[in-house]
Amino acid sequence: MPATRPVRSYVIRSGRITGGQRRALERHSEKYVVRFEPGPLAIERLFPSEQPLTVEIGFGSGESLLQMAREQPGTNFLGIDVYQPGAGRVLQGIVEHGLGNIRLICHDAVEVFRDNLAEESIDRVLILFPDPWPRKRHHKRRLVRDGFMQLVLSRLKPGGEVHLATDWPPYLESMMAVMDAIPGFRNRFGEGCWEDPARPITRFELRGRRLGHEVRDLLYCKAPS
Ligand SMILES: C[S@@+](CC[C@H](N)C(=O)[O-])C[C@H]1O[C@@H](n2cnc3c(N)ncnc32)[C@H](O)[C@@H]1O
Repeated sequence: MPATRPVRSYVIRSGRITGGQRRALERHSEKYVVRFEPGPLAIERLFPSEQPLTVEIGFGSGESLLQMAREQPGTNFLGIDVYQPGAGRVLQGIVEHGLGNIRLICHDAVEVFRDNLAEESIDRVLILFPDPWPRKRHHKRRLVRDGFMQLVLSRLKPGGEVHLATDWPPYLESMMAVMDAIPGFRNRFGEGCWEDPARPITRFELRGRRLGHEVRDLLYCKAPS
């Protein structure tokens, strides 16, 4: 029987990669990009020092990841995305600013969480402007779904947080329904959104705002067990 293909939350975008991004990937991947292999990953050994860990899933072009890493040197950042030009851009920024607190994995975040990341090992997970997959027949490709968010919950430390943002109201509704239905998560703002979120502006957010979309953030924490 043919194996069923997993439903992925992304398509590989063939965005134009610049010469600088390509060179950065060639020169600096070995030091900063962790090659995906199934099996547990000693995440604390990837960084020069043991510090709280934030994981950004879908860092895209990487501006937010770079800005946060510069502003929060006391935090380690693991960025996960399959978008190669973005990874190249982040590597350029790491070198330009001498950042020691970012590592990347260019692979499906679902498999990275499932295979690599240990239970109760992450302080904060960011999913900023995940692809909204607006058509009904594509909703199964949305990243913020029950199965994946249960997995994220298991990888968070008690008290750890998940920060979500979207400019697509139907996805916001669905995110809240998913998160509210998982007993281990608590909305930090009762039943509402985070009105003044502490985070950099992202490229997709800018695009959404230009189109007149309303941007909303959510913050959930893992209730101590
Ligand atoms: C709509 S873009 C948003 C990028 C960025 N956060 C921003 O706001 O500008 C979504 C990103 O998530 C990535 N992505 C989606 N599903 C993913 C998955 N399962 N694993 C890794 N990256 C994923 C895509 O490649 C894409 O770069």
